[in-house]
Amino acid sequence: MSNILVVDDVAPLAEQYAYDLKRIAGYDVTVATNGAAALDRLRNDSIDCALLDLEMPGMDGFEVLRALKHQGIETPVIVYTGTGNFDRCIEAVRLGAAGFIDKAEPMERVAQEVANAIERHRLRRELWALQRRLGESGLVGRGAAMDRLRDSIARVAGIPSPVLILGESGTGKELVARELHRLGTNPAGPFVVINAAALPEALVESELFGHERGAFTGAASTRKGAFEAAENGTLFLDEIGELPLPVQPKLLRALEQHTVTRLGTSKSIAVNARVIAATHRDLDRLVADGVFREDLLFRLNVHVLRVPPLRERPEDVPLLAARFVDETCTRFGMLPKRLSPEAREALVHHGWQRNNVRELRNVIERSVVATDGETR
Ligand SMILES: Nc1ncnc2c1ncn2[C@@H]1O[C@H](COP(=O)(O)OP(=O)(O)OP(=O)(O)O)[C@@H](O)[C@H]1O
Ligand SMILES: [Mg+2]
Repeated sequence: MSNILVVDDVAPLAEQYAYDLKRIAGYDVTVATNGAAALDRLRNDSIDCALLDLEMPGMDGFEVLRALKHQGIETPVIVYTGTGNFDRCIEAVRLGAAGFIDKAEPMERVAQEVANAIERHRLRRELWALQRRLGESGLVGRGAAMDRLRDSIARVAGIPSPVLILGESGTGKELVARELHRLGTNPAGPFVVINAAALPEALVESELFGHERGAFTGAASTRKGAFEAAENGTLFLDEIGELPLPVQPKLLRALEQHTVTRLGTSKSIAVNARVIAATHRDLDRLVADGVFREDLLFRLNVHVLRVPPLRERPEDVPLLAARFVDETCTRFGMLPKRLSPEAREALVHHGWQRNNVRELRNVIERSVVATDGETR
């Protein structure tokens, strides 16, 4: 059963409210008659939801909300007011209140509001827990280079500016992009990938910015582009070095003005997507060769993350190898296997010149499958 706290300086009113709420919804309801007592209860007891009066002498409802925020207490709080002052309610929601009600509302509505707030809170916590669990399966590696990379990821994850990820093929650039998204401000938002190298040149622009019906032969219906699809989330532009030159100024405009124009119209649409770009190419070189615009590079390379090649972090190989052995066994429904010490040594000392972590994963997958049935 849920524990509800009613906070009101007028004790008889609070008692009546508590009594009605208990009768109608069956909650366990207790009362606090000032802000300090409420804070104390919220800090120390397991309260599922609080109903908080905004107007109280001494520490008022706003101060309670501020203190909760400050102390990281996430219990959902619904504010209620007898004065019907809307602006104050909205301010309370800005301070973190889960909702507001008028004291005159029927108790059934109040009970419903409380149930909704508890449910929303439960869902949010579940989502966080899942995200954290998923996170554990992300970037593997405990060496100094990976720790530095993790620090850099944490540093830029929360900011809205573009991030450029550089690194050789197979080093984990896409994984880093997903990590940035996961640690960013809206991990529940979309993560949209556009790979400039995998798309025919003629399609890149419409994939990025969308098109109106009839914009070109084959455009049978209006379609949103990746920028719009990534609204309030992340747009990952993989292989940015292969972006066709004619599209580059349009991307620059989208980054600078936060608007896109679908092919076949002149109407601009506001977009809000965090852009992450990646490449294994040397962009300075591409600029010198005249195939990449310098202004776009300057726009992208404010925050750069470099993913080191695997041969520069041999200390990560055992952990990665063990992870890939487990993954392969699970995927192919095999009994769990372990690497022999000799195999592990050989992997650590292999040069990993070509495809880095992807190459390691492939080598392991092949050998795990090849040795299936052998005893070890
Ligand atoms: N640190 C890591 N921990 C666990 N898995 C990793 C790590 N780095 C890379 N991988 C795995 O290696 C493979 C290649 O990674 P990813 O696709 O992110 O590389 P990339 O740099 O984008 O490569 P490319 O340049 O070829 O696109 C993926 O299967 C990825 O999950
Ligand atoms: Mg990639």
